[in-house]
Amino acid sequence: MRTQDPKTIYLKEYQQPAYWVEHINLTVRLFEGYTEVASELRLKKNPTVDSRELVLNGVGQSIQSLHLGDQPLSEDDYQYSDNILRLQCDADEVQFRAVTHIDPQNNTSLEGLYQSGTMYCTQCEAEGFRKITFYPDRPDVMASFTTRIEADAKHFPVLLSNGNPVDSGALEGGRHYAVWEDPFPKPSYLFALVAGDLASKDDRFTTFSGREATLRIFVEPQNAHKVDFALTSLKKAMTWDEEVYGREYDLDLFMIVASDFFNMGAMENKGLNIFNSAAVLASPDTSNDQRFERIEGIVAHEYFHNWSGNRVTCRDWFQLSLKEGFTVFRDTEFSSDTHDRAVKRIETVAGLRAGQFPEDNGPMAHPVRPDSYIEINNFYTATVYEKGAEVVRMIHTLISAEYFRRGSDLYFERFDGQAVTTDDFVACMEEVSGLDLTQFKRWYSQAGTPRLTVTDQFDAGKGTYTLSFHQSCPATPGQTEKSPFVIPIKLGLLGADGQDLPITTKANYNADTEVLTITDEVTEVVFTGLSERPVPSLLRDFSAPVKLSFGYSNEQLAFLAANDANGFNRWDALQQLYLRAILSMATDHRAGRTLSAPSVVVEAVATVAGDASLSPAIRASMLTLPGYAILKDAVDVVYIDDLIAARKHLVKTLASRYRDIWRSLTEKLSSDAPYEFNAEESGRRQLQGLSLWYWLKAGDQAAFDFAAELYAGATNQTDRSNALRAVLAGDAEALQQSLLSDFYERWQSDTQMVEQWLTMQAGTPGMTVAGIETLMQHPAFDIKNPNKVRSVIVGFAMNTESFHDEKGEGYALLASVVRQLNALNPQLAARLVTLLSDWKRYDTARGRMMASALETILATESLSSNVFEMAQRALKD
Ligand code: BES
Ligand code: ZN
Repeated sequence: MRTQDPKTIYLKEYQQPAYWVEHINLTVRLFEGYTEVASELRLKKNPTVDSRELVLNGVGQSIQSLHLGDQPLSEDDYQYSDNILRLQCDADEVQFRAVTHIDPQNNTSLEGLYQSGTMYCTQCEAEGFRKITFYPDRPDVMASFTTRIEADAKHFPVLLSNGNPVDSGALEGGRHYAVWEDPFPKPSYLFALVAGDLASKDDRFTTFSGREATLRIFVEPQNAHKVDFALTSLKKAMTWDEEVYGREYDLDLFMIVASDFFNMGAMENKGLNIFNSAAVLASPDTSNDQRFERIEGIVAHEYFHNWSGNRVTCRDWFQLSLKEGFTVFRDTEFSSDTHDRAVKRIETVAGLRAGQFPEDNGPMAHPVRPDSYIEINNFYTATVYEKGAEVVRMIHTLISAEYFRRGSDLYFERFDGQAVTTDDFVACMEEVSGLDLTQFKRWYSQAGTPRLTVTDQFDAGKGTYTLSFHQSCPATPGQTEKSPFVIPIKLGLLGADGQDLPITTKANYNADTEVLTITDEVTEVVFTGLSERPVPSLLRDFSAPVKLSFGYSNEQLAFLAANDANGFNRWDALQQLYLRAILSMATDHRAGRTLSAPSVVVEAVATVAGDASLSPAIRASMLTLPGYAILKDAVDVVYIDDLIAARKHLVKTLASRYRDIWRSLTEKLSSDAPYEFNAEESGRRQLQGLSLWYWLKAGDQAAFDFAAELYAGATNQTDRSNALRAVLAGDAEALQQSLLSDFYERWQSDTQMVEQWLTMQAGTPGMTVAGIETLMQHPAFDIKNPNKVRSVIVGFAMNTESFHDEKGEGYALLASVVRQLNALNPQLAARLVTLLSDWKRYDTARGRMMASALETILATESLSSNVFEMAQRALKD
């Protein structure tokens, strides 16, 4: 919480602590009404630092006793203010002991130790451990942990912490205890503790060196039937990390616990991952394909952190992308290897453009490695994660897969058990490959999405084709001038027959990887030996996170969409066509002209829909129009009504023009086979869902009938949600209402289904602020539960037509929810603020209303530093 003015932390001020912690003995005694925490820190002087001041973080600690060595400390012996305890230490090796009381049962922030339903659990990243006990709560302090938990045996039969169980037994008064030892030194943010009445399911994994590990998932008993998929995903991830990175699991036990109250998706605590229930519990009847895919990816992500994050961790929080960017890159590669690489790349890039590009293009822009922060929780962003993963991917592209693996081997070997920096990571990649990445590192320090403008020239006489690249990067907060980036450009040149022409050039081109590397502001590349003017296919596989512009004609884009050898670029060419069509119709709408979708676009859609050589999954992604996030990012001023009208017009045109195609695809893609989650089957269901959606948009009664039947007869949640999504997007209100109430009737006892039910309603066209307020009164809603808040509030904010209603009531509602959450859960409240941060990009009237909602937020009494930082950054010039 903010006391006076929140303090800004700077990367350039990083200093090692005066004392390290070698080992901590922690005892946590859970009682009704309070929890007692006793800790013993074995401290060791850091010889490289002159100071003898012991600095310990502590939030909400009610001190019972403190000792330094055998000496009890009185209030004159230390200073405790602004959540920091300071004392002078004479000894080089000394024990510090603290007994404190904390109040997990009223901890609604969901950081530190808190109650989640009937269980207790923890969340310590980034700075939650200081809410449990006094500690140097910073990632460069790595200690081994022994944790003893004591609690009532009847209500909390299961007591867990990191590492291996070493002791347990009964205590007086119906209580019991368990002791856990984690031999691997770790930073406090990886600490975890769980106590509850939980069911568990086991599996086993034999590592490549023949070690046996037990895999165990803990859930509330009613969820016991939803754990199998996560166990399978975990084994798959463990195998992949062995095969692709040579990384082996290192403890005898790997545990996952599902928690209903969780701020994030999941957390990689050593040996004891804690997951948001929504990110781990799955069954075909309650989880659709997208959910299965997300769960598999997130289980893998947290598991991969065991090396990229835990064994080798971050020196300070500015290095967050060291573990997150790298681990997102790893989980994305895992999904690409085990499903469909092109489809995965398309999803990743669509997500980057919809999430990270807008962040880079507004007041929240920051480098992958930020220079300063007030609240580190505010920097778990698309930039640190998704752009960070793209930066790692570019290194992979530049030095090749083989050198990348050698570099990662070196990194894990050299820094095992240490807390390091992104520079250390890059240095390993430089060392093995011999490539100088000094300039490349600007990707870590400079914010903003680079623009790459390309022009071409063909000289028929000489048979030369010249591409001129010009790069620039817009100013971002605190960074007006940018230096050129290293941009790897994967490319091809298409001849008139649609085939790639051979590439001959003297420039910095690697023929094996087909990558051209640009380092200057302006670069000219001459290709020789060409007898015809080619159509360039640039930035294949999205080889760099830049905004590319080349003056393609619509016909050239349609040609690329139909012929490019690179699947990603076929998709991208079509996306550009859609984007152009929508933007030009938006301009027409603004000028009061009638809308008409360009025929090149309309015809390209028929080509794709009918191209049986493309997998259903690829066809589905090619037939999906860019969403509002991408449309908004492409214009100077967002006139949202015009964008909505234009996008709707294109949907309507495609729906009615091709109603027979949509109908036949929908019918043809039906299947009676039992549900299986795999790339092929989920691709089929995805294309069927999309076709049904278009068919229904054409307004055919037969489509509504089909959807109602698909819903009623569904034996899996993918079919069911496809049917619902289509019906909710149409305008048959009676059918909508009957399906929604049927859904709740049947599934009200299943938390994940209720969350989906809330999300669907919040996203329904025509949803109003009054409707959202009613939903917030529903017994299924709980403001203290982040999943419920996200379902309803984020769901509503994503409902562009409703949220941006011209009266601005949506913004006011959001502000009032943020004010309410500020006191309960500052981390979540601050996240919601980002939904208003692009206010400047809208028309004046809407921009003003959004800004005034932000001002209302900023005027909240006892504003948390989390919300303060976000609202203030959003409003800043
Ligand atoms: N370490 C994070 C979880 C975390 C984030 C804890 C912020 C505390 C504050 C975890 O590894 C993570 O990144 N989780 C992601 C999912 C992942 C698949 C990108 C999440 O929770 O969204
Ligand atoms: Zn992570």
